[in-house]
Amino acid sequence: MEINNAPQKKRALSFIQSSGMFTLGNYLGAVKNWNNMQEEFECVFGIADLHSITVRQDPATLRKQIYSAAAMLLSTGLDPEKSLIFMQSHVAAHSQLAWILNCYTQFGELSRMTQFKDKSQKHSDNVNAGLFTYPVLMAADILLYKPDLVPVGADQKQHLEIARDIAKRFNGIYGDVFTIPEPYIPPIGAKVMSLQEPEKKMSKSDENENAKILLTDSPDAIMRKFKRAVTDSEARVCVGENKPGINNLIEIYSCITGKTADEITAEFEGKGYGDFKLSVGEAVVEELRPVQEKYNMYISDKAQLEKIYKEGAEKAQYVARKTLSKVMKKVGYVL
Ligand code: TRP
Repeated sequence: MEINNAPQKKRALSFIQSSGMFTLGNYLGAVKNWNNMQEEFECVFGIADLHSITVRQDPATLRKQIYSAAAMLLSTGLDPEKSLIFMQSHVAAHSQLAWILNCYTQFGELSRMTQFKDKSQKHSDNVNAGLFTYPVLMAADILLYKPDLVPVGADQKQHLEIARDIAKRFNGIYGDVFTIPEPYIPPIGAKVMSLQEPEKKMSKSDENENAKILLTDSPDAIMRKFKRAVTDSEARVCVGENKPGINNLIEIYSCITGKTADEITAEFEGKGYGDFKLSVGEAVVEELRPVQEKYNMYISDKAQLEKIYKEGAEKAQYVARKTLSKVMKKVGYVL
């Protein structure tokens, strides 16, 4: 890919956390869109492995999860020929810029982050400084690559907002150093909810296995989980206010087949939820089949995977160091 000083296309950047196998929610809500964005934009995609240790991780598990995240990103269609794909921990500039930006970020504004409040309650035995300054590292991830657009889900909106605030503050003092990124809402994409508590987002950390579809789930497991998905007692496949379970299944089916909600209602007129759940399950199985085949190939060929992520790291280092040097000069460091 061409990361140069005068890009023809707009640049888009996003990262995904490496803690745990991706879910159908990560896929339909984020990664599948990244895949489509590769033609339209010059894309930068990272695995946020530094962010993972804000929660205590077992080393062997962490390593496995990072490999698996890299293999999965490539399997869902990200193409290292078109996009810059790398691991955050391989580019030292992220930690370096994060330190500098820490000194341009206020305690008060970090205290207002809802994710910090939630996570510090959930992990009250380990409210570490990394958990608190997490948004600053995320700001560094973004600002180093000067993207125009950052696709993020609703839960990361506040973090993107603080990244913009930090960038504006820094530019206000030192001149035009950072590009101010805009949030990007992809034209297609689903917000996938838990299959067991459909008012909640599908989460990879959910302890209830039936609540989430992992991208590595076997066809049997996928079918079983959809059959058990929580619905309602109306027994009509249509979008409705008090039908979060069915709304979610319609959203998933629509995102995969490209059919509208009305078309789906027509397709299942006179049929029960049982039939609908089978169809959604089968659509997901077929959608994931080629992804899983590629994943198995990458995960059993570490040499190929390593070649790709090392090349990605080198290209990313080049771009990131340029921005970091400019920042350091502006601040007054001797280079
Ligand atoms: N915090 C994001 C998440 O949990 C991941 C992330 C890290 C990110 N750095 C980023 C997303 C930079 C967008 C841009 O989903």
